[in-house]
Amino acid sequence: LTIFLFPSSHICFSIAHTLLFWPGPIETSHPLGPVTLLVWTHPFHRRQDLPDCYELFHISGCALTDDRREYAHADAVVIHHRDVVLGSDELPPEPRPSAQKWIWMNYESPSHTPQLWQLEGVFNFTLSYRTDSDIFLPYGYLIPRTHGTRSSLGRRAHLLHRPSNKDLRRPHLVAWVISNWSETHARVAFYYQLRRYIDVDVFGRAGQPMEDSSKGSVVRLLGRYQFYLALENSLHTDYITEKLWNAVQAGAVPVVLGPDRKNYERFLPPEAFIHVDDFPTVRGLARYLLMLKRNPLLLRRHLDWRGDYALYRPVMWSEHYCLACKTTRRGRGRTQVVRDLTKWFYS
Ligand SMILES: *[C@@H]1O[C@H](CO)[C@@H](O)[C@H](O)[C@H]1NC(C)=O
Ligand SMILES: *[C@@H]1O[C@H](CO)[C@@H](O)[C@H](O)[C@H]1NC(C)=O
Repeated sequence: LTIFLFPSSHICFSIAHTLLFWPGPIETSHPLGPVTLLVWTHPFHRRQDLPDCYELFHISGCALTDDRREYAHADAVVIHHRDVVLGSDELPPEPRPSAQKWIWMNYESPSHTPQLWQLEGVFNFTLSYRTDSDIFLPYGYLIPRTHGTRSSLGRRAHLLHRPSNKDLRRPHLVAWVISNWSETHARVAFYYQLRRYIDVDVFGRAGQPMEDSSKGSVVRLLGRYQFYLALENSLHTDYITEKLWNAVQAGAVPVVLGPDRKNYERFLPPEAFIHVDDFPTVRGLARYLLMLKRNPLLLRRHLDWRGDYALYRPVMWSEHYCLACKTTRRGRGRTQVVRDLTKWFYS
């Protein structure tokens, strides 16, 4: 078993395909004093209160601020990509204080990340869903139960369970929640094919309205379905979003369209999802889903893994800031520049 430890974050990987949780030692004393992290813009200009990193994540020595007057003595500045490239805001002023780190934060896929080329050689760290970011935090991840008790996993971890008999005979078959319908998306082409063979209940702006669109209500809805179409808007390395984790949380088997199967297996056991590439035809996939519906014992194979895991879904954006702060403190005194941002992000 080889474990790749991400030194900048509290997560590591095992090539046995599951993400392991690695909280790291709780650090209490910092000879160099706390780190000040300036949040340059609140993502999409939606203001949020800044978190207490120690209380929420046991990360100490962090002073977070969104007050730009702190710029001159901030150790790091977090800059959300979209807010500075679309002209609504500018990058911080140059020359920057020496030793200050600029952190590029982005949770959109490359297809929806405009004007990257403008930002070559500007940043010192990357913060994104990509596993090879300097600061890596995915949309969700699994924690093996053996790795902690209920209380050490924290309040925000969702314990998953082996399926009950009721879970194997849910009243509805396949759901899809879609807010941005575009005929150019691979996922829409896939849907057109799939619905020739199997009923798909479509929700969201393009289908039946949701009661409300909060995360909780999607999970509640999916709790009545056996399968959920977790189809990404574009296909890129590690770009696996909350769609997948909504299904996992609700105990619906995700049918995924996104990066390839091997990439998903970095995040989930192989049987925990059905990949559209697993079948040579969409018809073959549809038949498989119908067959599972008739054979609860076979369906169980896709759900039994749940007994060994808890699901963790990082809070946007508190955890991102606190992790950025932790990495900044560890990298104090070191110089690092992000070159080839575009090439890397598209790879
Ligand atoms: C919706 O999809 C289109 C086509 O890919 C894209 O240009 C647009 O940015 C998307 N909108 C949102 C809100 O994601
Ligand atoms: C951060 O990146 C800038 C721009 O490339 C560079 O000039 C600076 O030396 C870097 N600073 C640190 C502390 O890494």
